[in-house]
Amino acid sequence: MAQYTHSRTSNVALTFSEGAALFVSPYHLYEEMREREKMEERTLAAAATAICIFWTLLSCLSLASVAGAVGVNWGTSSSHPLPPPKVVELLQSNNITKVKLSDANPQILDSLSGSRIDVMVGIPNEMLRSLNSSKKAAESWVHDNITRYISNGGSSGVRIQYIAIGDDPFLQSYGEQFKPYVIGATTNIQLALSGAKLANKVKVVVPCSSDVYQSNSSLPSKGHFKPELNKTMTQLLPFLSKHGSPFVVNINPFLSIRQTKNFSIEYTLFQLTTHTLVDGHNTYKNSFDVSIDTLVTALSKAGFADLEIIVGQIGWPTDGASNASSSIAEAFMKGLMSHLMSRDGTPLRPKKPPIEAYVFSLLDEDQRSITAGNFERHWGVFTFDGQAKYHVNLGQGSRNLVNAQNVKYLSSKWCVVNNNKDLSNVSANAVEACSIADCTALSPGGSCYNISWPGNISFAFNSYYQQHDQRADSCIFGGLGLITTVDPSVGECRYAVGLNTSLSTSQYETRLIWWTLLMAFLLVCM
Ligand SMILES: *[C@@H]1O[C@H](CO)[C@@H](O)[C@H](O)[C@H]1NC(C)=O
Ligand SMILES: *[C@@H]1O[C@H](CO)[C@@H](O)[C@H](O)[C@H]1NC(C)=O
Ligand SMILES: *[C@@H]1O[C@H](CO)[C@@H](O)[C@H](O)[C@H]1NC(C)=O
Ligand SMILES: *[C@@H]1O[C@H](CO)[C@@H](O)[C@H](O)[C@H]1NC(C)=O
Ligand SMILES: *[C@@H]1O[C@H](CO)[C@@H](O)[C@H](O)[C@H]1NC(C)=O
Repeated sequence: MAQYTHSRTSNVALTFSEGAALFVSPYHLYEEMREREKMEERTLAAAATAICIFWTLLSCLSLASVAGAVGVNWGTSSSHPLPPPKVVELLQSNNITKVKLSDANPQILDSLSGSRIDVMVGIPNEMLRSLNSSKKAAESWVHDNITRYISNGGSSGVRIQYIAIGDDPFLQSYGEQFKPYVIGATTNIQLALSGAKLANKVKVVVPCSSDVYQSNSSLPSKGHFKPELNKTMTQLLPFLSKHGSPFVVNINPFLSIRQTKNFSIEYTLFQLTTHTLVDGHNTYKNSFDVSIDTLVTALSKAGFADLEIIVGQIGWPTDGASNASSSIAEAFMKGLMSHLMSRDGTPLRPKKPPIEAYVFSLLDEDQRSITAGNFERHWGVFTFDGQAKYHVNLGQGSRNLVNAQNVKYLSSKWCVVNNNKDLSNVSANAVEACSIADCTALSPGGSCYNISWPGNISFAFNSYYQQHDQRADSCIFGGLGLITTVDPSVGECRYAVGLNTSLSTSQYETRLIWWTLLMAFLLVCM
């Protein structure tokens, strides 16, 4: 997974005069105040709704206990992330009780404090080297990122259950980049946990992608760990077993579909009724069970048949490639959820499904690396602004997913190409915009692939403009950009308005107080 990137740096030759953003008319502020009052009313209404929802949930606790094993991955590779408290609200209103984080972001951990949500904290691959070489570094890491936040059983603090060492550190494409440090880092973190008297509360795990195991004949009963990982697994598995930690596997069925052309999509979407894979006495109707049982065989062959399994990442993207759409993602997620919630397990582990599974992912992230493909920024069950893309039961039962409430957006403004200008050279501007902004929806199979020229150029301009907080000077493009208040969205192709993340609440309030004082002063004087 891509690591935390929060850069809004621009290499494009567009100048920015900071002064412009500072002049705000009092009238504009008055409007903001009105907006805020309206928002407070809505908050009250939302609170009332939340109480109703709470009682409804209490009455379906049996359902919640099943759904309790389902969590979500909450990533942070966004230029304008939804504020963490909003995300926690989103999780709670959908009865999602487990999250897996890619790091130990302090704002996120603070927002999870007191939430009663179980948390898997991540350590990025880049940190493994130092944690491997220094026990002291591991102690500091545990102290700064776990001990400080962890709940002591009461209602405050963060319910940290797991620490994930690296993220797919054995991925084939990484080669030897992280592999040599995994076991050392894992051991040092475990020692540090023991030192902090947390070893009985927090388990250490190592998320492995499903490419750590294979089966030469594609039969689960022939599964084994890759020979080049034999030494590592020979160290890792006894460690996990000794500490009662599960084996965490990340499964990417979407990538399997793309790589293995001879893979029926129904097989992956849990929709197969006729054709099945026969493996001795066992038959397989979906690729998920095949993957899990290949791992089960590999674990058994290595002498650890009883290790519990957690699925650390599993999901389906909705844009940026063919087969990446909301409807296919919905079919996949519904199939997966009903399979997990049935608790049928797999042929090799009947009635014993993976103990937990984390959906990949909660929200779209516009800064994720697209080396694997343009779909990488569209894994969310929710859009970047917390709106459900489709319906699936993640724990909220038969109700629809609840969207994020009172999201703060920038103004309803877009940047498009000015059709009255000579557009013969406009492509260069679009390429420039796309090198920074997120144009992945324009790729073949994407939601905006079919919009005609120069609509696609407008899409690129707008993406750049929103990513730069709608600054007037980010819609120039050599005089070819034009700011409009008419939403250019067509059909499936959504021209987003960005999130307003520039004004923190406190700055906002300080500004309001200043203006109120000024107004009062003026009134008194007149
Ligand atoms: C966690 O702890 C380490 C060591 O003290 C520190 O360098 C790091 O910035 C902390 N935060 C995160 C997000 O890892
Ligand atoms: C494709 O899959 C079918 C059924 O699983 C198999 O019989 C066939 O040999 C496969 N073809 C190739 C080219 O792998
Ligand atoms: C490593 O290889 C040995 C010898 O082939 C085998 O017995 C053992 O099960 C393998 N270990 C793992 C973890 O795959
Ligand atoms: C487009 O680019 C070419 C080559 O740089 C230049 O000669 C031409 O004047 C440009 N046209 C416009 C309309 O800017
Ligand atoms: C926009 O569409 C035109 C014509 O289909 C194509 O040549 C161009 O590469 C597209 N530009 C982008 C940024 O997608």
